[in-house]
Formats: sequence, structure tokens, C-alpha cells
Amino acid sequence: MDEDGVQEVLSSLGGKPVGGWGLLQIAGCSGLAAYTVWALVLMPGFRKVPLKLQVPYLPASAKQVANVMSLLEGRSGKMVDLGSGDGRIVLGAAQRGFHPAVGYELNPWLVRLSYINAWRAGCHGKVSYRRQDLWKVKLHDCSNISVFLAPSVLSLLESKLLAELPDGARVVAGRFPLPTWTPTHTIGDGADRAWAYDIQSIRESAGGRQAGTLV
Ligand SMILES: C[S@@+](CC[C@H](N)C(=O)[O-])C[C@H]1O[C@@H](n2cnc3c(N)ncnc32)[C@H](O)[C@@H]1O
Repeated sequence: MDEDGVQEVLSSLGGKPVGGWGLLQIAGCSGLAAYTVWALVLMPGFRKVPLKLQVPYLPASAKQVANVMSLLEGRSGKMVDLGSGDGRIVLGAAQRGFHPAVGYELNPWLVRLSYINAWRAGCHGKVSYRRQDLWKVKLHDCSNISVFLAPSVLSLLESKLLAELPDGARVVAGRFPLPTWTPTHTIGDGADRAWAYDIQSIRESAGGRQAGTLV
């Protein structure tokens, strides 16, 4: 809609013509309303997280959850979803016997929603959702990890995972692959694609590359 169109609609609503100043006020109020929704509903709790590390909420599809579970088949022990959203991946893991099944999520609304979803699925007590910054969580005892995050943070995440995870751990990335790691398995196509990485083989190939550089 062009400016004349906007004028026409606004004038017909209020009966009075709206000048440039009025339009500016409307734009300002809309911007403020959008910012308030963003700050209070979509990204609360993110004030202390640097802007480049902020990842918005986008839930995994049923197919994506199923793909993560396929890549974790035959495994057991602790399962963690970093940035767990409404808790669906953690819930799926708990239903397949992973224990403990833990989600880390900064948005308090999503943490509450996760508990409601777990309760409705009869899994209350089998899952745990913690309102914590994933960058501050220590991962030394995690054997199964899933990450559905943005490409902008994945390089930094590789360093964290490599520094903290035990040798036997498996990382499953959804939507975007980890940028420099070679996956052990992949599943699905397009947006449903998921990649599994075994930490031991990632360490071995990183060690091999370093040795190659030293020769
Ligand atoms: C793309 S969503 C994925 C949600 C969920 N894993 C799923 O697949 O359904 C990313 C989630 O990570 C959360 N998140 C982003 N940065 C975070 C941080 N530093 N600590 C904890 N949670 C974070 C966001 O609030 C968002 O819910």
C-alpha cells in the first residue's frame, strides 16, 4: 500500500487527515509494540546473551524429531537438547528411555510450556527443563546431545562440544550441519535432514590433521 492508500485508510477510520507527524507516531508505536513482543514474549532472558549468539525459537517438525531419534537409536544414558524450545525433543528422548532427559532453554515461557507438554504426555518426572544459558552449561557427563540452532553459532558450538564432551558422546544436529565436522551418519532430506557426529572420530580426525600439519 502506498502513502496515499495509508492516508485514505487512516482518514476514513478517524475522519481526520493524518499528517507526516501522525504517521511517524504510528510507525513509532508499531515499532515499540513489535519490540515489546520480541523482548517479553519471544526472547525474554536473552538480555545477557550477545546478539550474535541469540537464536530465535523455531520448533522441530515431527519428522525432524523422528530423525533425531533414529540417529540415537541403540544408545542410552543422558540426553540433552541445547536450546530445547517447547521441549519436544527431550520429551521424545524420555519416551524412548533416555535418562536423564534434559533441556536447556532461556525463554521462561517455553520452559513452562515444556513442563505442560510433558505433563500432558504423562512424562512429568521423566524430563527436566532448565532455564539456563546453553553456553554456560558444562557437558562433561552428556552422552547424547541434540542441537537445532542457527548457522551463526555452530562454529563456536563445535569448540565447546569438542572441549567438553566425553569420547563416547554423539551429537545430532538438525536443520544445519556443524560446519567443519564430518558426520558419521545422516538421515532425511532438505529441512528434515539431520547429521550425527561421534566425538571420538571427530577427535581422531582433528588429531590426524594436526599431526599432518606438524610433519
Ligand atoms: C531453533 S529453536 C529449537 C527448539 C527445539 N530444540 C526444537 O527443535 O524444537 C532454538 C531454541 O534455542 C533457545 N536458545 C537460544 N539461545 C539459547 C541460549 N543461549 N541458552 C538457552 N537456550 C537458547 C531459543 O530460545 C529457542 O527456543
